[in-house]
Amino acid sequence: MQLKSIQDVDLKGKRVVVRFDFNVPLTKTEPRTITDASRIDEAIPTIRLLLEKGASKIVMISHLGRPDGQPNPKYSLEPVAEYLASKLGTDVILSESAVDNGLRNLLQLPETKLVLLENIRFLPGEEKNDMELAEKLSQYGDIYVNDAFGAAHRKHASTYGINAFFKGRAYPGLLMKKEIESLSSLLEKPAKPFVAIVGGAKVSDKIKTIEKLLVMVDTLLIGGAMAYPFLKARGNTVGNSLCSDDDVALAKQLLAADKGGKIQLPKDHIVAEGLEGKPETCHTISIPDGKMGLDIGPMTIQSYGDHIKTAKTIFWNGPMGLFESKAFARGTMSIAHEIAGTKAFSVVGGGDSVAAVQQSGEASKFSHVSTGGGASLEYIEKGELPGVQALRFGV
Ligand code: 3PG
Ligand code: MG
Repeated sequence: MQLKSIQDVDLKGKRVVVRFDFNVPLTKTEPRTITDASRIDEAIPTIRLLLEKGASKIVMISHLGRPDGQPNPKYSLEPVAEYLASKLGTDVILSESAVDNGLRNLLQLPETKLVLLENIRFLPGEEKNDMELAEKLSQYGDIYVNDAFGAAHRKHASTYGINAFFKGRAYPGLLMKKEIESLSSLLEKPAKPFVAIVGGAKVSDKIKTIEKLLVMVDTLLIGGAMAYPFLKARGNTVGNSLCSDDDVALAKQLLAADKGGKIQLPKDHIVAEGLEGKPETCHTISIPDGKMGLDIGPMTIQSYGDHIKTAKTIFWNGPMGLFESKAFARGTMSIAHEIAGTKAFSVVGGGDSVAAVQQSGEASKFSHVSTGGGASLEYIEKGELPGVQALRFGV
């Protein structure tokens, strides 16, 4: 079933409850400031649309981090409320709790317009999909909008259960719709060749998505620490590189399943004695004892680049190395530039790869930069997410 459009709804005088994913990275020390506001910036068009369409109240819900069901000032949405207020040029009231009487009274006042509820994960009911909490939240609005694509793989009270109280009155936000449309073009008749690039740390985190990608794509380029278990599974040595036995076993399974020989592995590496060590090029597939692989090498960059050049559809998740450190960033940056240089339909997802794309300065040349990491992987794996399914069919 097609997702509905919030543009088509009459919102004049209506109270709207909106779930956003304002789970943005913050500095580790006080004062906590936002280090990447992309997720908030991407939500602004939905807020503006609700305002333009004459909504009387906009009650915004989000989580931030994983405070495990209790209040913790470290995870307060205060920096988000401040950022929103400055971006929108209006007051944004941050409620002390997502459910309290003060808030009910506040919402009675005609001048109250934009309210951000404090971190919904301060309440234990959120992650348990508690229906009492869902019902309380539903009472703040006549209409429910879910724009939290990044959290749509979670079956929580504010992303899932709440739909039960908005039969026929639940809509995706603009960002949610854009995300689902972009990702579903990868699943439905992608132009070939389809090349996927998967990196990051652990095979176990992405195994289900990789299994699905092997069916969909023509070529699967593997990089980052993810590559070492695959190399070991093929009988190469990996020195001191990150490589758990469990991941080697999973990599063996994937290689056995890859009947079409779609998986490509690094042919050379940038290695060092440790994370702070001096980088050197390792020209062989096998990495010697005492060395740790931290990026793909120049031959691999060249060969992965050749695959990317021929692609008509590209999906990228996970960096090729420890790109946060300049010495080991070349592989990841080269992939970003290579994709930016194609005319292919290109989608990148996942916090680290998105940060790398931003760092490369080429984000605008990608067809779609997803705000969801886990959510985009799960959507590719399953073709649906609980939060989206609930919008389509209710709960
Ligand atoms: C994310 O950043 O992955 C989303 O906001 C979901 O957060 P979570 O992984 O803590 O559920
Ligand atoms: Mg996550």
